[in-house]
Amino acid sequence: MGVKKIMCVTNVRRTLQLEYLDLYLIHWPISVTPGKFAFTSDEQDLMPMDLKSVWAAMEECQRLGLAKSIGVSNFSCKKLETLLSSAIILPSVNQVEMSPLWQQKRLRDFCKTNGIIVTAFSPLGARGTGWGTNNVMENETLEEIAKARGKTVAQVCRRWVYEQEVAPIVNSYNKERLRENLQIFDWVPSEDERTKIIQIKQQRMMLKEDLVSARGPFKSIEELWDGEL
Ligand SMILES: NC(=O)c1ccc[n+]([C@@H]2O[C@H](COP(=O)([O-])OP(=O)(O)OC[C@H]3O[C@@H](n4cnc5c(N)ncnc54)[C@H](OP(=O)(O)O)[C@@H]3O)[C@@H](O)[C@H]2O)c1
Repeated sequence: MGVKKIMCVTNVRRTLQLEYLDLYLIHWPISVTPGKFAFTSDEQDLMPMDLKSVWAAMEECQRLGLAKSIGVSNFSCKKLETLLSSAIILPSVNQVEMSPLWQQKRLRDFCKTNGIIVTAFSPLGARGTGWGTNNVMENETLEEIAKARGKTVAQVCRRWVYEQEVAPIVNSYNKERLRENLQIFDWVPSEDERTKIIQIKQQRMMLKEDLVSARGPFKSIEELWDGEL
């Protein structure tokens, strides 16, 4: 192991105060000016990601034992294809928005074929978070099913996501709602209910306009998502 690598391992362990990460993800397929770590970046700091070398560095993290698994987030099928064309270690996860209102069928099929686990973020539409909407929790079809089954809309969503064989991350700071969100194993939707959910009008919630700019790597929402809108 070279001196540089040893320093990298030591620095990461000291900064995070952890021996290793279970899973280390590239959050968005974009880079920012080196040294600037603000989550929402200024337009002039947006830079194209050199995916090949970033992924090679991620692979090195796994080889060095800093991360048990490595993956990506908010990657379209096209960006995954680019990554897979040069990757030595394949991404284990693609963490993406997924709910009954943004079902990600094509991406899920692509990930399944390539052995990538889909993690579903904002499965309830992220109501009240600042980046989300009420569209999922107030969807008429979901409300109808919930009412007919004596369930909450959150439980209908959670059950649907669970049935798609993905790993959901639903967030709550409330004890009752945490419990409610786990109570999804005592009922099974009918085929008719499943069909109704599949037919819900699809709409991506998180467009991420702040990553689009005339001078940055993505000039339009279409480019950012490779038309998967
Ligand atoms: N990779 C990415 O780019 C990305 C993007 C967005 C989110 N994420 C991650 O995904 C995870 C979950 O997504 P999210 O927080 O965006 O959205 P979410 O889980 O769909 O929604 C969370 C919101 O729903 C409320 N909630 C939870 N359970 C509920 C219930 N049973 N009934 C009514 N309201 C309920 C929560 O409020 P209470 O706390 O008051 O219950 C919270 O306001 C988070 O850990 C987040 O960090 C990742």
